[in-house]
Amino acid sequence: MTHAPKTQELQLSDIPTLRQRGRQHAEKGAVTPSYAADRGTVLRLLNEALATELVCVLRYRRHYYMVDGLRGEAIKDEFMAHSLEEQGHADELAQRIVQLDGAPNFDPKGLAERSHAEYVECGTVDQMILENLVAERIAIESYKEMIAYIGARDPTTRRLLESILAKEEEHADDLSTMLRKTAPVAAQRVDLPVRAAG
Ligand SMILES: [Fe+2]
Ligand SMILES: [Fe+2]
Repeated sequence: MTHAPKTQELQLSDIPTLRQRGRQHAEKGAVTPSYAADRGTVLRLLNEALATELVCVLRYRRHYYMVDGLRGEAIKDEFMAHSLEEQGHADELAQRIVQLDGAPNFDPKGLAERSHAEYVECGTVDQMILENLVAERIAIESYKEMIAYIGARDPTTRRLLESILAKEEEHADDLSTMLRKTAPVAAQRVDLPVRAAG
């Protein structure tokens, strides 16, 4: 037996309803009555992501300054580029937190604990690359979970998180390429396939 596909009814509000809802609690700015997510939870998740980005800014900066210039000019450039992009993510998250009528938490006290990824200084360039790769992978996992949690309930936050996730995946790919080139043995230890040099 075949079933005809159900027609989806359009659930659009009429103009007077839209106008009335726009006026309701206008002091809440971008947060309108149809905001469907749990705002408190979204703000908490965004603040955790903000802490993660700030820790990543600091870790990449530390590594940038500690890599020997002559040996690792390309690696230094990559660390600085990533650090700047993580700072950009932190700013975008802080901006979204304010749009949702929340307050971004930049308090250095407890920053490392609020962050999903860790601040690890590392003694060698190979360790730095590996540690940054691990941090990116942690960020990828947590952004994916946040996106799944938010679903269709807050499309603007979801789109922001999706754009950051795409960048973190790029970062992880950059780092795994670097790791294969500079430390094929370490790459094997973390089960990364070793590509032919070239
Ligand atoms: Fe980031
Ligand atoms: Fe990243």
